[in-house]
Amino acid sequence: MGSTDLTYNYKVVRQFSIAAVLWGVVGMLVGCWIAAQLAWPTLGEGIEWLSYGRLRPLHTNAVIFAFGGCALFGTSYYVVQRTCNVRLISDKLAAFHFWGWQAVIVAAAITLPMGFTQGKEYAELEWPIDVLITFVWVAYAVVFFGTLAIRKVKHIYVANWFYGAFIIAVALLHIVNSAAMPAGMWKSYSAYAGVQDAMVQWWYGHNAVGFFLTAGFLGMMYYFIPKQVGRPVYSYRLSIVHFWALIFTYMWAGPHHLHYTALPDWTQSIGMVFSLILLAPSWGGMINGIMTLSGAWHKLRDDPILRFLIVSLSFYGMSTFEGPMMSIKTVNALSHYTDWTIGHVHSGALGWVGLISMGSLYYMVPRLFGKEAMHSKNAIEIHFWVSTIGIVLYITAMWIAGVMQGLMWRELNADGTLTYTFVESVKATYPYYVVRFFGGLLYVGGMLVMAWNVWMTAKGGKAVDARIPALPAHMGLNHVAAHA
Ligand code: HEM
Ligand code: HEM
Repeated sequence: MGSTDLTYNYKVVRQFSIAAVLWGVVGMLVGCWIAAQLAWPTLGEGIEWLSYGRLRPLHTNAVIFAFGGCALFGTSYYVVQRTCNVRLISDKLAAFHFWGWQAVIVAAAITLPMGFTQGKEYAELEWPIDVLITFVWVAYAVVFFGTLAIRKVKHIYVANWFYGAFIIAVALLHIVNSAAMPAGMWKSYSAYAGVQDAMVQWWYGHNAVGFFLTAGFLGMMYYFIPKQVGRPVYSYRLSIVHFWALIFTYMWAGPHHLHYTALPDWTQSIGMVFSLILLAPSWGGMINGIMTLSGAWHKLRDDPILRFLIVSLSFYGMSTFEGPMMSIKTVNALSHYTDWTIGHVHSGALGWVGLISMGSLYYMVPRLFGKEAMHSKNAIEIHFWVSTIGIVLYITAMWIAGVMQGLMWRELNADGTLTYTFVESVKATYPYYVVRFFGGLLYVGGMLVMAWNVWMTAKGGKAVDARIPALPAHMGLNHVAAHA
């Protein structure tokens, strides 16, 4: 037995964790830049690669796939090893996964500002990068599922189910939605035409929300909340129902992105109905996470890491209530095209995805560097408050702006003409764009505090690979997370 057989592979977890923090800072700075451009549109004028149209997809790709992706990969490797009591099946493939993904990110950071795009939201990257993503994803799947296959614990803890669904669903979405005919190195045409293209794109788009921005992060919830609280999941049975209900329902909700379009009406209605049903599993999951705290609520008072994790769930609950409401056709008639959508996106993205990742990283980082705790607890506290205030500013500004825009656009005079010109609604939005910009600055400010704290923790500690503990023979199934 080699020495590596006795330890977990923390190297790749460390790499992904640090990359998540770095890319988080970069992606959010780009977010602040485009937010500033919406308030002050002459910023960067005349410089193509600084223009809004090119940097907006850079922002979305950087925060979703670089920040969110690295956080998901790092935590999933940590969780799968610890709950299976076994080292990753292949260190080499895991390293390929890490470096391959960084290559994808760098390629995106170069090609998007140059204007190369497939024109599909969240799937902008051109075909050569799509091919690289496919190889990297296969490597990830082999390492993750291979590790599950050699596990020393009979039961597969529920967090792994969520991570596994994320891996399988994203593979399927990527392959189907990216099917295209290359026409040169940096140009391709979609395999689908017209309304089918739109339908496939939003089947992809909504499941990117469901599986990239939700399922994997629920995996984090099911591992890191019980760990940080020191209690098992509130209801393990509910977690299983939650899993199957969620993955079944998400797949059908995509058409709510295409209300009042050329998509057949009945398809839109199916999208709406499934979106309404989606409220139930989403809230079931949220309640399961929050109730894990029952009997230990006092811990929230002096544990900022737990606060990150629990407040993220409140934002999850908020955005998964708002989403079904927005999917109702008559509500969507008001919200679509307005900043309401942007407010919804960021209550999910900053509140749910951002905070749960940060909480999970704060849990893992000291352990990856052989330390008892992060370098500064006060800095975590500051980060929590600064980012929470930032989110509140961001989303309330966008909600008010969105509803205002929707109402202005539909206001009619007695003779049937429009009361407001479009540009009047743009002018009225200006103060809200400024507030959003400052909200964004606070959020990225918190991220910089985190980067400093992670740096100091790493400097004061040393890279360690924890030993794989002997498994107690009585190890109960749903107690795995509480022990691992
Ligand atoms: C400092 C923090 C952030 C700022 C200032 C920011 C700013 C922005 C801005 C200005 C837009 C374009 C809005 C528009 O077109 O009207 C945008 C879009 C978007 N952002 Fe962010 N963002 C931030 C963080 C994040 C994070 C952390 C995520 C995801 C984890 C995220 C995900 C998205 C998505 C998905 C869109 C596209 C929304 C849509 O098309 O409806 N953002 N962001
Ligand atoms: C039950 C859950 C949810 C439902 C039913 C839902 C529903 C919706 C609806 C109806 C829209 C507006 C579509 C439009 O008018 O174009 C939307 C947009 C969006 N939602 Fe959600 N949402 C849910 C949860 C979430 C969560 C948790 C996140 C993020 C983590 C999220 C991210 C987004 C994004 C990124 C968009 C903008 C897509 C685009 O146009 O680019 N959603 N959602």
